[in-house]
Amino acid sequence: TDNQVFSKEILKWYRANPRELPWRGTTDPYKIWLSEIILQQTRVAQGLPYYYKFVEQYPTVKDLAEAPEEEVLRLWQGLGYYSRARNLHFCAKQIWFERAGEFPNSYSELLKLKGVGTYTAAAIASFAFSEAKAVVDGNVFRVLARVFGIETDIASGKGKREFQELADQLIPQDNPAEYNQAMMDFGARLCVPNKPDCANCPIQGSCFAFNNQLVNDLPVKINK
Ligand code: ADE
Repeated sequence: TDNQVFSKEILKWYRANPRELPWRGTTDPYKIWLSEIILQQTRVAQGLPYYYKFVEQYPTVKDLAEAPEEEVLRLWQGLGYYSRARNLHFCAKQIWFERAGEFPNSYSELLKLKGVGTYTAAAIASFAFSEAKAVVDGNVFRVLARVFGIETDIASGKGKREFQELADQLIPQDNPAEYNQAMMDFGARLCVPNKPDCANCPIQGSCFAFNNQLVNDLPVKINK
């Protein structure tokens, strides 16, 4: 599959099948960071009410920084993985009191935040700052492995490097944010693990896995 054809088709699909999510209408890095931390171990449907609660209670990083920790943890109740809430509060204080409220504004700076890994840093960098860094998670592994016929073990270090490299080649420089959103949705809603909707897939014809009856065999994940 030609790289530019791939990203064009993914974007076209996304525009025809948009999912309205509250953090998609903003470029405020604070709100995007908040949404991505909530979504790290939580499904969208479960995370939505928490996102609304947090944005209402703490509309800015200052509000979160100045809140008592018990209050933040109470608001987080029911989501689990409380280290996420502790890290949110810790980082908000750091940004507000030590960085004069200036939010880290690049992938490499975002990575330094406690609780922010490569996926979350790429999401914030692209959505808030239009940096062309690809998000790579289980959804993206699956889409790329199938479309491009990559058989490298996604659980290996080699696999992780290979997929990140390909993903960063595919992301269009002129619209990285929309492309990342599109990949998230394409993997979450069409190119799903079991019974993907190949009948309605715009890149079916150029999908390696579809053309070789390997849809159920890709991606390769060797459990250790
Ligand atoms: N999962 C993680 N980040 C997401 C986002 N920005 N939109 C939808 N699902 C997500």
